[in-house]
Amino acid sequence: MEPVDTLAAVDVQALETEALDAVAAASTEEELDEARVRYLGRKSALKQALRGVRDRESGMALNALRERLEQAVAEREEAFAAERQRARTGDAYDPTLPGDAPPRGHLHPITQIRREVEDVFLGLGYEIVDGREVETTRYNFDALNLPAWHPTRSSRASLFLDDETVLRTETSPSQIRTMEERGGPPIYMITTGRVYRRDTVDATHTPIFHQVEGLAIDEGITLADLKGTLLHLMRALFGEDRAVRFRTHYFPFTEPSIEPDVSCFLCDGRGCSVCKHSGWIEMGGAGMVDPALYEFVGTEMYDPERISGFAFGLGLERIAMLRHRLPDIRMLWQNDLRVLEQF
Ligand code: DAH
Repeated sequence: MEPVDTLAAVDVQALETEALDAVAAASTEEELDEARVRYLGRKSALKQALRGVRDRESGMALNALRERLEQAVAEREEAFAAERQRARTGDAYDPTLPGDAPPRGHLHPITQIRREVEDVFLGLGYEIVDGREVETTRYNFDALNLPAWHPTRSSRASLFLDDETVLRTETSPSQIRTMEERGGPPIYMITTGRVYRRDTVDATHTPIFHQVEGLAIDEGITLADLKGTLLHLMRALFGEDRAVRFRTHYFPFTEPSIEPDVSCFLCDGRGCSVCKHSGWIEMGGAGMVDPALYEFVGTEMYDPERISGFAFGLGLERIAMLRHRLPDIRMLWQNDLRVLEQF
């Protein structure tokens, strides 16, 4: 049998134009199907030509045409399907379709801890007071009984705005402001916020960090109340199993003073580099309010013969590090989503 020149038998260009026109002209799905059968069906000129193909060149040209026509039909089918969907639902919002979930963030771990601490104290009947981050040296140092020679008064330790104004180095000045504003006991308050120190950044220091300050003044308040309150907080934050201890210490604004420690999260008290081989991690400071503070505010409002109080200050970053076993405080400031998304 003579090889037939199939390309000569079919005008590829003309066939393509005709077929594409028919596909485009189809105004219903039925018409589109008719066009598909006519140009791509078993009896179509294209399929017959393909069956008779004897040479490579014709085969490639006809197959390429078949692919282009199939593509055109598929596109038109999709357009009809979309139209059908629109006709069914109208342009109106269809509440039965699955929505696009917007990406959802969450609170920063420090904010989470702050709210948790606030919840614990709200549960104990405390109120939450706002302090100020820009303080006078009078409230930041003098009122808190810090002697003139105290190193924290130096511009090498603290961030001064001018001679008499400083970014607060601790949240304790809000004890004084609250005492003044309330004009007398009872006071049960906490305040949380940023404090500033001229520290060099390393694994445990940042020049800005957060503290929670607490103050309770009433008749008959004792050191046992302070220890019970701090123990309650530590249990709420770290669970029943974590050991808590209190060490004696010194602060100019409390007498006696103590420091609460929590057993190390990394070695569970056995001793490691995080706890400097002591097995314990210091959480902050506390103590019974020094009468010098009552004298500063006015003993007619706060008579140390009649009333007493306790105070404490804890670092929120410290709490977050213990809670989440973070080896480096900088992880809480770098806002690396790979870290933050784990909380
Ligand atoms: N202000 C102290 C500090 O930043 C912490 C502190 C200690 C606060 C004893 C207190 C307190 O209220 O009674 O290191």
